[in-house]
Amino acid sequence: MSSHCDENIYLLGRDEAETERLNKQHRFLVAVSGGELIHPSIPKAKITAVADIGTGTGVWLADLANRLPNASSIYFHGFDVSDAQFPPENTITQATGQKIPLSVQDALKPYAPEHQGRYDLVHIRLLTAGLRQGDYASVLNNARDLLKPEGWIQWEEVDHTTFCTNKIPENPVITKMRNTTIDAMLTLGLWPFAPQRVYDEISAARFQNVRRETYTTVGKEHLHETASKWVANVMRAMVPPSMVVNGQARNDQEAKVKVEVLIREFERHCEDALPLVNFGVTVAQRSG
Ligand SMILES: C[S@@+](CC[C@H](N)C(=O)[O-])C[C@H]1O[C@@H](n2cnc3c(N)ncnc32)[C@H](O)[C@@H]1O
Repeated sequence: MSSHCDENIYLLGRDEAETERLNKQHRFLVAVSGGELIHPSIPKAKITAVADIGTGTGVWLADLANRLPNASSIYFHGFDVSDAQFPPENTITQATGQKIPLSVQDALKPYAPEHQGRYDLVHIRLLTAGLRQGDYASVLNNARDLLKPEGWIQWEEVDHTTFCTNKIPENPVITKMRNTTIDAMLTLGLWPFAPQRVYDEISAARFQNVRRETYTTVGKEHLHETASKWVANVMRAMVPPSMVVNGQARNDQEAKVKVEVLIREFERHCEDALPLVNFGVTVAQRSG
């Protein structure tokens, strides 16, 4: 369900089902982008501190801390505007006993002085359901302040306008669900074309070595089933609140019933169609 408190807006829910979806989604997005959590152009050996903005359940940080060989000597910190999906005590506890703190922090507001200039890597993933067009520059500006000189940012977003499959002509349920989401995002002042926006903002700000990758499922038949399930779950999360925003349903419950019918049709269509996903990753280094 969409929520609106003060100037913050968020199209998705934060319940148990959404928490599970975010954790599963992490594995899919990592698989689409070739299995790496950090882009190869970022030198890992030099990393001593990592921040994750809009961390959600903290799944990316937890996975990273598991994978980096020198993790015990790295400081990790997660930030999110809401602690609703944080693990207990706002802490990720690793199998090694290492603890990672998570803090409530609006990405649109400046960070506390102890975090400024502290991090070699700042990671952001999928903030699009909570950012208006003009918010991207503020998020980036605050994120930049977290970085050491020459520290790296890695910002990853999905383009909601490119949900489709490799079948032509397009199945009308896909057109309907995609347009419903885009219309609601635009009505709420959110911005569905996130990867391009991120790349443009970073390119225009004080960063160097800006690089963009677009990862898709094209040619990755082994991800066919996972991609179908992922898109279905994204639609389950985004389309019902969008229908309420657009006036296509009176409430979340009614919208969910309508969306399940569309999703069943989408799943049938995906038995022999590959969902195409457009996942954009921009990396860049703070200059000065
Ligand atoms: C779709 S989830 C992604 C979570 C995580 N980055 C991941 O990839 O698993 C988006 C997250 O952004 C957070 N968020 C939305 N608006 C925010 C803001 N203004 N500042 C910080 N976090 C925000 C939400 O609370 C949510 O946890």
